Amino acid sequence: MSRTALPEFLSNAAVPNELQSVILGLAEVSVTISQALAKGALAGVLGAAGAENVQGEDQKKLDVIANDLIKEALAALPAVRGLASEEEPDVLACHTDGQYLVTFDPLDGSSNIDINSMVGTIFSVLPHTGSAAVTEQDFLQPGRQQAAAGYILYGPSVMLVLSTGNGVAMFTLDQDQNRYLLTEADISIPVEAKEFSINMSNQRHWVAGMQHYISDLLLGKEGPRGKDFNMRWVAAMVADVHRILCRGGLFTYPWDSRKPEQAGKLRLMYEANPMGFLVEQAGGEVWTPEGKILDIQPEHIHQRVPVILGAASEVKICVDYHQR
Ligand code: AHG
Ligand code: MN
Ligand code: MN
Repeated sequence: MSRTALPEFLSNAAVPNELQSVILGLAEVSVTISQALAKGALAGVLGAAGAENVQGEDQKKLDVIANDLIKEALAALPAVRGLASEEEPDVLACHTDGQYLVTFDPLDGSSNIDINSMVGTIFSVLPHTGSAAVTEQDFLQPGRQQAAAGYILYGPSVMLVLSTGNGVAMFTLDQDQNRYLLTEADISIPVEAKEFSINMSNQRHWVAGMQHYISDLLLGKEGPRGKDFNMRWVAAMVADVHRILCRGGLFTYPWDSRKPEQAGKLRLMYEANPMGFLVEQAGGEVWTPEGKILDIQPEHIHQRVPVILGAASEVKICVDYHQR
């Protein structure tokens, strides 16, 4: 069977050349990252880097390796005006006539690295609309303005999942030829959910709306929802959202009272917006208790946000519990 390769797919979809170059640059560097991950302990890349990032989190060696590889690959592309990374304190200026700004989470799910479990790279591409010299301000655009968003999932297969605003397509890495081939086009999330995804260990710290919503799910057939739900938690947003794109369900990382000043754990510009763009493109919904995430006007690049996303009808029910 002959399958469409990523470059051909992008040309067929009439994606602008400069945007194609950014997506292909990310695809290429992801192959190198996947090879480092596959070598694991043999390449001495597992374990802690011994430093803390701007988010106040301990970095793994692979967080740093993936960040450096992506930074170097993107900075070499004339279409890239500037970069912002979860692992970098400040935005980085690149080419003065580049058309795009790229934000990324170089390695999502880092706590999975040392247990040989799933991790990913998440990226978001925004148009550059500001002045010549790139500042943080230029990046502060609502997620709805993304020109493209996607992720690479380093699992049993390496997959690239992408939207340029015209649906969601999935590509699988052919590891013999190091190229991504189209394996699923037009992804669509079922409206009703049978699965939910949340870190249950934090239950006692959630707001009342979330506690009530999850308790009702746990009551299953005998409760007000009248049906049983299954639960999954990979501890890598990229893998949990991938499951939702493949077979539906709801994913949430709520605000929690242990760090009241912090609006949840997930980052708006590196996680919620790009994954949210994909989920909306696949017919799902993406909310905080207050409104749609893609409409949020960001205030700074490392901003965090409570996230409720996935099956359209289930997300609305969850938001409803918060608004009662
Ligand atoms: P990162 O590895 O980029 O810091 O992101 C991890 C995030 C997200 O991917 C995942 O859903 C969540 O943290 C897992 O959190 P818990 O530790 O609460 O399971
Ligand atoms: Mn992450
Ligand atoms: Mn990360």
